[in-house]
Amino acid sequence: MTMARHVSGFLAGIMILCVASTAFGSPRPLRSNEDDTSFLNVFDYGAKGDGQSDDSGAFLKAWEAACNGDKAGQGPTIFVPYGKSFLLRPLQFQGPCKSESIQFQIWGNITAPAKIEEWHNCESGSWILFSEITNLKLTGKGYFDGRGQAWWSKDESQLLPHDDDDDSCDRPKALTFLKIVNLELSGPTHLNSPRAHIRLEDSTSVKLTDLLIQAPEDSPNTDGIAIGASSHIEIRDCTIETGDDCIAIKGGTSNIEVTNVKCGPGHGISVGSLGYEGAHETVEEVYVRNCEFKSSDNGARIKTWEGGSGYVRGILFENIKVSDTKRPIIIDQSYCDDQKSSCKVASSVVTISDVTYRHVRGISKSDLAIDLSCAAGTGCTNIVLDDIDLSSEDGEKSYAECKNVFQASFTSVNPPVSCQNS
Ligand SMILES: *[C@@H]1O[C@H](CO)[C@@H](O)[C@H](O)[C@H]1NC(C)=O
Repeated sequence: MTMARHVSGFLAGIMILCVASTAFGSPRPLRSNEDDTSFLNVFDYGAKGDGQSDDSGAFLKAWEAACNGDKAGQGPTIFVPYGKSFLLRPLQFQGPCKSESIQFQIWGNITAPAKIEEWHNCESGSWILFSEITNLKLTGKGYFDGRGQAWWSKDESQLLPHDDDDDSCDRPKALTFLKIVNLELSGPTHLNSPRAHIRLEDSTSVKLTDLLIQAPEDSPNTDGIAIGASSHIEIRDCTIETGDDCIAIKGGTSNIEVTNVKCGPGHGISVGSLGYEGAHETVEEVYVRNCEFKSSDNGARIKTWEGGSGYVRGILFENIKVSDTKRPIIIDQSYCDDQKSSCKVASSVVTISDVTYRHVRGISKSDLAIDLSCAAGTGCTNIVLDDIDLSSEDGEKSYAECKNVFQASFTSVNPPVSCQNS
């Protein structure tokens, strides 16, 4: 072998090493923010961050850039800096996008208009709509403040109806995620939405973790998380204190896992209501584990209207801690909200089957601690209660009611349950 060959072999070796280390090893060097199309600070798009100026335009420009894809061919990040407050009017972050993924890092505050007159164009029924996006991630320890206070005191009749051609809003939800595939929302706090705080619709593969959601106990319809027509949803490590459902699981949903969530005040984790005005709706495979209900109306609840059709099946509530909660376990197959008119006994029902409550313990605020009210005729089938201990606040007066439950299996249940079937 000649010297020249030795040298060229050596150089080739070095070259291979270099290529290998850029491709697989060391991280990309930090780049300056200028001409960095993968890191989009909302200030570079004209945001003021003073809590007074309307920053909607700046956020939408940043969104457009992010949605168009970055030079590196990687997922762009929209950065919302800490210590600032960004006022956003109702807006939509609309896909589909060229980018493979988009991330929001939210460290500052995102706030809604304080006055109702300042709300316009809520066609989506929400303050901030994310729609038709694949691989969307929102992280950071910032805040979404929906400033719902102005809305809560107005009753619905004062707000409705308004002219078709005026662009004023009905009481909106805060964040809606519509048609999102692969969503991760982890970190931000959600305050005082006019209506539901986080709504998922037509979405799949969703992870919601490390969220704090707060609104006053008496604020109307302020669900924490409302899910419709979606599947493969994981909700983990959240604290939800609001005026309505902690988590509402509505029609068209399947495969929902809720783990380590603290609920209350609020109306508990509800499957339903389903079947309103004859609707055909289905919910299946809902697993709620290691959750806590505190100062809550209702704990683990399933509610369906008579006259509807469809099913609720494969529901598990396991390892549930209860304190100061009214009706910790409740199934209501003849649900009726008094303000609405369709409360009649009907021949069709949404069937309820394969529902298990296991290891549910604590103190019920109402003496009626277990309420299984299934409709005459069809009833509910295969309802399992296993290791339940719910006493009432003043000692031993707690009791259970059970109607029209077939194939029941009750093991180690306090208060004891006996069913009347007609
Ligand atoms: C952000 O919101 C939180 C909660 O309301 C508040 O404590 C904090 O002072 C706000 N920060 C700014 C910069 O407005």
